[in-house]
Amino acid sequence: MTKDVIIACDFADGGSTLNFLNRFAPLSQKPFVKIGMELFYAEGPDMVRRIKALGHPVFLDLKLHDIPNTVKKAMTVLSRLEVDIVNVHGGGGRPMMEAAIEGLTRPDGSRLTRLIAVTMLTSTDQTIMERDLLIQRPLPEVVLSYAENAKAAGLDGIVCSPLEAEAVHKRCGAGFLTVTPGIRFAEGDKGDQKRVTTPSDAKKLGSDYIVVGRPITQAEDPVEAYERCMRDFI
Ligand code: C5P
Repeated sequence: MTKDVIIACDFADGGSTLNFLNRFAPLSQKPFVKIGMELFYAEGPDMVRRIKALGHPVFLDLKLHDIPNTVKKAMTVLSRLEVDIVNVHGGGGRPMMEAAIEGLTRPDGSRLTRLIAVTMLTSTDQTIMERDLLIQRPLPEVVLSYAENAKAAGLDGIVCSPLEAEAVHKRCGAGFLTVTPGIRFAEGDKGDQKRVTTPSDAKKLGSDYIVVGRPITQAEDPVEAYERCMRDFI
């Protein structure tokens, strides 16, 4: 299985994103990048095409969550961008996830883009889950149950914490992808992330892909920070 570091390109506009990515132009292997809602809503699908044209693998993090028919049609449109990974909210349920897979699948039955599910947002804790979502079960159990649903719907993996990666692999198999944000260097600033893991600990815990934003984008030397992540994680 391929392991990789995905840079979360959380910039508000295309110019800042392209300036940032330009620093990585000398690297022979272009880094995997994550494009989130902010950049996508600001710049649209053309920005995805431009970043792909530069040679970067792309994770389009739009977290779709709607009725199955709408998600299926949206996924068919997104499939034309030929990105490497897209995602949905696991909370949309199995029929919605199955519809997402259908939408991504081409008429010849092939599917280029991998689909993963967000389980429980890391901003949701036990209290919020019980009080607002009325789910009265331990959060790690809920994450594993959402992972099983995603697997049953035919998805390729989930977004989770590195701390959950091992349990997810045990329950859903070693080939089921764990894509894990919340990564910080040991000496780094946590920002708004609460439970953080270093790249080398994420490796030990069995994450398949780490998603790293500010420790790279805000670093004095982003290329050096990226290469350090790669050395520690791969
Ligand atoms: O800057 P930082 O490394 O915290 O960025 C992490 C990235 O991963 C952000 O783009 C954030 O939206 C995303 N993410 C997350 N937690 C999740 C899902 C996505 O931090 N559960």
